[in-house]
Amino acid sequence: MLAAAAAVYTGGDGPGGSGSGAGGPGRSTSGTGGSGRGGSGGSAARELAVGARLRAEGVPAELVAAAFTQAELRHRAAAKFARAEEMFFTRAGLEQASSQAAAEHRAARFAGRSRLADLCTGIGGDALALAPGREILLVDRDPVHLRMAALNVAVHGAHRVDTLLADVRAADLTGYDGVFVDPARRTGDRRLASRASEPPLPWCFALADRVAAVAVKAAPGLATDQVPQGWEIEFVADGRDLKEAVLFSPALATTERRATVLHPASSAHPASGAHLGSPAHLAALGSAEAGIAFPDGPVSLVGVADPAEPDGPVAAPGRYLYDPSPAVTRAGLVGELARQLGAWQLDPMIAFLSSDTPVATPFARLLQISASLPFDVRRLAAELRGRGIGALEIRRRGLAGDVDELRRRLLPRRRDLVAGGPAITLVMTRVRDEPWAFLCTNWPADDHTPPRPSVIE
Ligand SMILES: C[S@@+](CC[C@H](N)C(=O)[O-])C[C@H]1O[C@@H](n2cnc3c(N)ncnc32)[C@H](O)[C@@H]1O
Repeated sequence: MLAAAAAVYTGGDGPGGSGSGAGGPGRSTSGTGGSGRGGSGGSAARELAVGARLRAEGVPAELVAAAFTQAELRHRAAAKFARAEEMFFTRAGLEQASSQAAAEHRAARFAGRSRLADLCTGIGGDALALAPGREILLVDRDPVHLRMAALNVAVHGAHRVDTLLADVRAADLTGYDGVFVDPARRTGDRRLASRASEPPLPWCFALADRVAAVAVKAAPGLATDQVPQGWEIEFVADGRDLKEAVLFSPALATTERRATVLHPASSAHPASGAHLGSPAHLAALGSAEAGIAFPDGPVSLVGVADPAEPDGPVAAPGRYLYDPSPAVTRAGLVGELARQLGAWQLDPMIAFLSSDTPVATPFARLLQISASLPFDVRRLAAELRGRGIGALEIRRRGLAGDVDELRRRLLPRRRDLVAGGPAITLVMTRVRDEPWAFLCTNWPADDHTPPRPSVIE
């Protein structure tokens, strides 16, 4: 029956009958879904048709509804999990679950540890990466989540899985050599207050008094003054989206601050072969001719946030602009990135970096500056009209203003965009504390001859 329901969301015809996968947690989730199901008119029509056929075969309406919910959640979960079609989800459990890429990256920290406890297991997004080849204890007070986690972990292989349906405070951690905890940031549909979690972070940090190796997942907005002495904080972004913060107890910490990008966007150029992130790699990428491809897997920038020298050097704009990953800015590693790239800040308070040499990096988007001018809407509109641009993106740091309103003023008429024209990024920021604008293109562009930027005073 699940296969028939799944075919509705994958657009296939699906098998004709019911009978497969009807048991287990599908029943328990019959109340969790409903809204948002069906998607387009096409899948809604298919859902009706398959639902009618299953009902005619005598499948209870509740079970049919549960199967459709599960199939739809599996379809959505494919964005997070490679084997989503074999897993079980609640809507809230899927929303809160770590992605497989984030979970696998984090699980590598527990290498060499054979008995782990995963507290606040949820549907097992983290457990499935922690479990393979180990003994693992899964603890959650939600029976549906715990059951689903056990099934989901089984899909991914574990040496031995124990489950405990309880408040995590009741878990006996004797004999475990590592603990991961992902406290809830909401109850039911309600988000907890911004710094709150269940259990609260101080309780999570105190786990290190019982088991030395502890990792705590937290909201990416976590204030860094909440990080206990000696712990590492890692900010994790997927592409340009900041996803989470993870805190590692001293037994797992290898640095003070870490910014990780899970899936760095590669350029279309061939790989350099140099080790990514190393000085040699960065040097190899230091010419416009260098090939650039970032690995599929995660890359990390590490460093110590130095309160005596929080920022990198500050100087006038060069030919290129770097827009650092939010993981880098949250980790306070903009100065470290500037040092590695031989770049500088344009303003001590703003995270844009600039240089005269393009150095490809997974930790920032690299733009080539084609015009640099004081921020003035009429002059910018004239500049854009003169270029016959095909698309306009607006990036803003350090300047207030309504971006949609600005776009309307810059490009008031539909014909202001020219088919096939260059895609331009307008960067609004401050330079030497003055409102400033840059017109930029992505680097590398198809043409590798960098034009000199026009500086319009
Ligand atoms: C953020 S989710 C965990 C997500 C999980 N790491 C994943 O990737 O699937 C939090 C889970 O903690 C559970 N939880 C919250 N407070 C708890 C407590 N005091 N004891 C046990 N479980 C708790 C909730 O039921 C929920 O399943």
